[in-house]
Amino acid sequence: MSAVTSQTLQPPLDVARIRADFPILHQEIYGKPLVYLDNGATTQKPQSVIDAVSHYYAADNSNVHRGVHALSERATADYEGARAKVRDFIHAASEREIVFTRGTTEAINLVAHSYLGPRLQAGDEILISHMEHHSNIVPWQLLCERSGAELKVVPISDAGEIVYEEFERLLSPERTKLVAVGHVSNALGTINPIEQIIRAAHAHDIPVLIDGAQAVAHLPVDVQALGADFYAFSGHKLFGPTGIGVLYAREALLDVMPPYQGGGDMIRTVSFSGSTWNELPYKFEAGTPNIAGAVGLGAAIDYVNSLDLALVQAYEHDLLDYATQQVSAIGDIRLVGTAQRKAGILSFVMENAHPHDIGTIVDHEGVAIRAGHHCAMPVMERFGVPATARASLACYNTRDDIDALVRALQRVHELFG
Ligand SMILES: Cc1ncc(COP(=O)(O)O)c(C=O)c1O
Repeated sequence: MSAVTSQTLQPPLDVARIRADFPILHQEIYGKPLVYLDNGATTQKPQSVIDAVSHYYAADNSNVHRGVHALSERATADYEGARAKVRDFIHAASEREIVFTRGTTEAINLVAHSYLGPRLQAGDEILISHMEHHSNIVPWQLLCERSGAELKVVPISDAGEIVYEEFERLLSPERTKLVAVGHVSNALGTINPIEQIIRAAHAHDIPVLIDGAQAVAHLPVDVQALGADFYAFSGHKLFGPTGIGVLYAREALLDVMPPYQGGGDMIRTVSFSGSTWNELPYKFEAGTPNIAGAVGLGAAIDYVNSLDLALVQAYEHDLLDYATQQVSAIGDIRLVGTAQRKAGILSFVMENAHPHDIGTIVDHEGVAIRAGHHCAMPVMERFGVPATARASLACYNTRDDIDALVRALQRVHELFG
């Protein structure tokens, strides 16, 4: 069978079935069917994730690693099983490279404290882009304040794309000690050319951290193919629970990094003359971890694997195109973020209505979107707006959802226009 034929035979995403898996979607808000378009902030959870967490507490709950009794062995198997699922999901070389954290923010802070902190000196530079989430700005700013290093920022174009020539210009073989960029911008939807960025940085042996918070639920990620040194993401944006996330890091880097926090589970031996550290990845997991969260994340990964992320990506791309056309047709709307390569995020402003008013009015039509700076204040500054309204898509959204958004926005237009 030719490649074209097998592609044509691929079943499309069965969105009706997917929607049936998410109980929260089937409710009314102010008497209107809920239309959930705030997936950039957090995604909803399929029944299988809710069941996995509930089953863990009902049947297996115990502490991990240290127990000899059956429940502890089960909890440990559940927890470590989830780590194996994460490894496969992002195609890491080993489970030793998968550190469970509270989320993307903690994963980035871990790298700042444990990898870059001890290495950074006055005169060094950290290179980020202008479109980063605060979680991929502030940890580096704090480090710079302590060390005298400098945060360098790659500018973005009017379309919301990294100005690649500026990236190349700012990448200094001598001074840049880390490049940290988002895979997908939460405020603009831009998919950054991270393959190219990683290649360019590696040509000078500069490590790269990718903030994958907005990517993992929407496009396939292979950390080895990308060559990422660090890749961070949150479970709750991947249909999993809050309070659990992942830092992927190459084993050679984790090996030479000191622990991030001290306490139980990260030690091998403790004495008053000195302590020794546990093997990877436990060296970075101090204290009782979020076991139920990891179990839920494992179930979320099973769920996503059952969908096929390549199909999800194509479906969401099509839906974004439709949303972009429909929303732009409403009189006074300006889109913020019009990159060539975009994931399912539509940020916009209206001439006469503040984004918070837009958010409140569409909420009364049952449509949940986000209004604000989206933890990306420099992006707002770059586009000269105090805030945007943002509709962000997931695989359970449909053209009907977009039509409901458009009707709600027309209502805003009538009231303020
Ligand atoms: C691009 C990006 N990075 C980092 C974060 C922070 O994620 P968390 O709050 O789950 O740590 C977010 C959350 O919105 C995000 O969109």
